[in-house]
Amino acid sequence: MMDIERIRAETPGLKHGIHLLACGSALAPQPVIDAVKHHLDLEAQIGGYEAHKAEDAMLDATYDSVARLIGARRHEIALLENATAAWCQAFYALPLKAGDRVITCQAEYAANYVAYLQRQKRDGIEIDVVPNDESGALDVQALERMITDRTALVTITWVPTNGGLVNPAAEVGAIAKKAGVPFLLDACQAVGQMPVDVEALNCDFLSATGRKFLRGPRGTGFLYIRDSWLQKLEPIMIDHFAAPWVTTDSYALRDDARRFENWENSYALRAGLKVACDYAMALGIEAIEERATMLADTLRARISELEGAKVLDLGAKQCAIVSFTIDGLDPHSTVTALRDKGITIGASSPDSTRLDAEYRNLREMFRAAPHYFNNEADLDALIVALKSQL
Ligand SMILES: Cc1ncc(COP(=O)(O)O)c(C=O)c1O
Repeated sequence: MMDIERIRAETPGLKHGIHLLACGSALAPQPVIDAVKHHLDLEAQIGGYEAHKAEDAMLDATYDSVARLIGARRHEIALLENATAAWCQAFYALPLKAGDRVITCQAEYAANYVAYLQRQKRDGIEIDVVPNDESGALDVQALERMITDRTALVTITWVPTNGGLVNPAAEVGAIAKKAGVPFLLDACQAVGQMPVDVEALNCDFLSATGRKFLRGPRGTGFLYIRDSWLQKLEPIMIDHFAAPWVTTDSYALRDDARRFENWENSYALRAGLKVACDYAMALGIEAIEERATMLADTLRARISELEGAKVLDLGAKQCAIVSFTIDGLDPHSTVTALRDKGITIGASSPDSTRLDAEYRNLREMFRAAPHYFNNEADLDALIVALKSQL
């Protein structure tokens, strides 16, 4: 059983208002904040390189913590500054050529889709989009039918930025594996709110961020690369950390996933990311998922009772992101008005998920994401505040 009062007591941001936007950038717990501050203080006291050296063992264990969180091995993890940097390292390293097809989903995130478009323009790849099934999730049977011998990559978003949909990532992974096609999974909105196991997912590459449901610091992200791909994938850019300069005429790429990193990093943020992983694992990811999902289900039910409200989450399985519109309320200005009342939710605009937005004719919508540290009183306050705007 989670000790919610203790969890809330060690979330200092809660003293300043109600935060229901874990899908944006969640409130960090005190141990994460302490880890970042401690390392910055140490850098101020003894110097950056010296602080790194003094804390080397702890900082190095960040790889173990991230690996544990997703069922990977430490040499399969690269630490990067955000999920997009991580995703791009894998995507752009893949040697896709003219005529190769990538298969993606309707819920695909903008950053990923513009990268497909760039490689379409530059390299001549082609983009296939799997339709949704009746529930609004990626249709796995359609995916199976769409794979041809020209399919070079299956690349999908597990949980979209704009709603509670949970795409059937493990089924997608099983299909990709059977077809012998690599699978790149954007797990940015999933990590920290639900169990993530790269073996069960059968993904070859997985990217995620620290600041969302994982409650880590901003400016952190990571990439998982399956061991069997490590030697095959050459980073698009290297430095002398990724590939030490071993003779005047040659370099030697690292054997591990850190060939996708650079020499210079924010070690204070890494310290925070490590603690965020350990914190989530200590609470138990299943327990986190159960509580966050329960709060989101409650919020969906309560919002749908508001006059003029429409809950827009897709899929048979839904997670802790709640998307909705309310007739007469402009999301952008309402979010600002609620913020002034000490309640944080967000808005999602069509251009972050353009395929989905155009297919469903979505305009800007509200986005709220309760996490396990929220409680029913937070939801009550949001409902009262929304009503007061009507
Ligand atoms: C589904 C999805 N993928 C990727 C990202 C990008 O993450 P980051 O901002 O850490 O690069 C986001 C951010 O909102 C997202 O929602």
